[in-house]
Formats: sequence, C-alpha cells, structure tokens
Amino acid sequence: MSQADIVPMQLSHLEAVLNLGHHVYDVNAMPYTSWSLSSVAAHFDAQPEACWVATDDQGLLGFVLGSLSYDEREDWGYLEWIALDERARGKGIASALLERCCTALFTAGASRIITDVETSNQASSAMMRRNGFTEGVTVTLFTRTNPDHPTPPASRPLHDPARARLRRAARTTNTP
Ligand SMILES: CC(C)(COP(=O)(O)OP(=O)(O)OC[C@H]1O[C@@H](n2cnc3c(N)ncnc32)[C@H](O)[C@@H]1OP(=O)(O)O)[C@@H](O)C(=O)NCCC(=O)NCCS
Repeated sequence: MSQADIVPMQLSHLEAVLNLGHHVYDVNAMPYTSWSLSSVAAHFDAQPEACWVATDDQGLLGFVLGSLSYDEREDWGYLEWIALDERARGKGIASALLERCCTALFTAGASRIITDVETSNQASSAMMRRNGFTEGVTVTLFTRTNPDHPTPPASRPLHDPARARLRRAARTTNTP
C-alpha cells in the first residue's frame, strides 16, 4: 500500500464509499442493516465537513461519516459509520479519520460525540477506546423469530427517517 491521504469526502467518492460499506458491513448483524446511499447522503448533506475519506494511488482505503445531531440532542455529534478496506487496517488510518471527524463535530458545536459498536466488533471497540471514547449504556437487541418464517427475508434499507431515529436510539456508546 502506498502513502495514504486523508481528505474531505467529495461527491466523486460516493460510489466507492457505498461499495466499500456494502463489502465490509455485515448486513445480517442488526446495526448495519441500514447501510444505503441514503445513509451516506444523510451525513454528507447535513455535515460534509465531518465526512472524510482515506485514499491512495489505488483508490479508496476507508471513510468516516458523522454529523450533528443525535436523536433529540442538537448538541450531540453522531459518528455513525467508519470502515477501512482490509489492506488499510492496523496502520492508524481509522484513528486519523476518526480524529478529523471528531474535530469537525466539536468545531460545529458538539458537546459530546456518540458512536455505537456491536459487542462482537472488537477491532472497532479497541479503536474507539484508543481514541478517547468510553463505554456508556449497553443495549442488547433481543430477537424473537417468526415461527412461520424461520429464515428472514433479505434485509432492505429503511428510508423512513423517523423509524431510523428510533432504531439508532437503541445503540449507544458515548464520551463523557
Ligand atoms: C473498525 C476499523 C475501522 C478499525 O480499523 P483499525 O485499522 O483497526 O484501526 P486503527 O486506525 O485504530 O489502527 C489500529 C492499529 O494500528 C496501529 N497504529 C496506530 N497508529 C499507527 C501508525 N501511525 N502507524 C502504524 N500503526 C499504527 C495501532 O497500534 C493498532 O494496532 P493494534 O491493533 O495492534 O493495537 C476496521 O476494523 C474496519 O473497517 N472494520 C469493518 C467495519 C466496521 O466494523 N466499522 C465499525 C462499525 S461502523
């Protein structure tokens, strides 16, 4: 891998960001089922300065997407999505992306920044802790399968912002 550049996200990065997200997020794990063009666009529209990408001469290495606000809290930043291509991991690139995003959110007036990490995602938890995030409330998603449909249909992205807000309220880890 050649030298990585960390640059503000542009519209021209959109397709590669979307594709990388589809590649790395496990859509069978509940918290990631909402990955879609609209979830990227929501952050990019609201707070483009909190959306960054890492690139090298072969293309996109990773991205971070954040924005103000979180649920009813206008003054909370939400770092919702961060991901790296496998070839870019373990080099501090995620931490550099996260730092750009957090700086932008604090500059925009965030009093704290929220992010949520699935319990089994140890790489992400470790990266958050290394970068000053401390654990807040832990929520477990209990599920009950419909006995008539033991194999759930393929997940579809949710485009209703009100319902998306409800769901994301159930996924909280925050900084003091
Ligand atoms: C979560 C994720 C982004 C973390 O990436 P990462 O590369 O592990 O994170 P970091 O940038 O913090 O790098 C961590 C490692 O690089 C090392 N590192 C940090 N700065 C460095 C530097 N300047 N030079 C070299 N190495 C460095 C760290 O010591 C650390 O190594 P360690 O794990 O052996 O302690 C990545 O695992 C990923 O894309 N996962 C899939 C998507 C996902 O789950 N996203 C989160 C939910 S939205």
